[in-house]
Amino acid sequence: MRHILTARNFTPDDINNIFRIAKDIESPPPFFVHKADRLAGKVIGTLFFEPSTRTRWSTEVAALRLGAKVVTMDNVGNSSTAKGESLADTVRTCSQYVDALVIRHPQAGSVAEAAQYSSVPVINAGDGSNEHPTQALLDLYTIWKLKDIQGTIMFTGDLEHSRTIPSLLQLIGAQMQAIFVKKREAWDVPVNYDHLSSARGFTRDFDRWVFEDEAINLLPEVDVLYMTRHQAERGLHGAPKFQMTKALAETMRQDAIIMHPLPRNNELLEEVDDDPRAVYFQQVKLGMYVRMGLLCWLLHK
Ligand code: NCD
Repeated sequence: MRHILTARNFTPDDINNIFRIAKDIESPPPFFVHKADRLAGKVIGTLFFEPSTRTRWSTEVAALRLGAKVVTMDNVGNSSTAKGESLADTVRTCSQYVDALVIRHPQAGSVAEAAQYSSVPVINAGDGSNEHPTQALLDLYTIWKLKDIQGTIMFTGDLEHSRTIPSLLQLIGAQMQAIFVKKREAWDVPVNYDHLSSARGFTRDFDRWVFEDEAINLLPEVDVLYMTRHQAERGLHGAPKFQMTKALAETMRQDAIIMHPLPRNNELLEEVDDDPRAVYFQQVKLGMYVRMGLLCWLLHK
């Protein structure tokens, strides 16, 4: 039995296989005609202890489009958690009913711990500021499809708390140069970026760490801009100031892409949406295909 708890759980072969299935699914004739029964008879359970729109919907729709059924628990107040049940017991119980569990939880490490009590595969749908392996997979697929996995990727926003960035870094490995955009730190609150360095797993001479004002001048060099939201709920120290406007997008290469795991706040203005570089809603759609690929790969025998 395989769990997907960290992006490290995917080998390069796994990624190739999942991408091959996802690509096959998204190519005509429409997948819902000829793939609709791949997971017929399976039931996927989603346990969301933290808010979600895209991850839950795209996972659930992916399962439904493959013919699986879905049962969801996204209101902790209506579950036995409200009666004091431990996550371990919830997982021991729910894994009796379903063929796979998809879990999101605010506490880093909690999903991996919970997986020890599961009798079915567990997919981590985001655990605190730690990891978000399926988002990383869809981010990589988006880069692979729209750009190719090479060149320079710039990361902006809440580098301290984002879980999508460390997961994506693990999948990108040495294939892309990274530019990390730091906010100017308040003197009394040093920000720790060690998790990003360790996710990178190696030191690259050509990786760069820059402040927000310098980053603006580097935009014309970037192939992929990967933006993230300020995670106020995780205790962000001082707000990052980098804001993508239409005028700034136009300083980027014609064939550069602007990605964002979403949701966005005011770091990415709606006026950018019409720019051909803005691919974040396409990224959402590709995410559904990737999750279909992942579920097939994990569960279709
Ligand atoms: C991200 C997440 O939940 O980590 N969103 C997502 O899953 N698409 C990013 C975020 O919450 O800011």
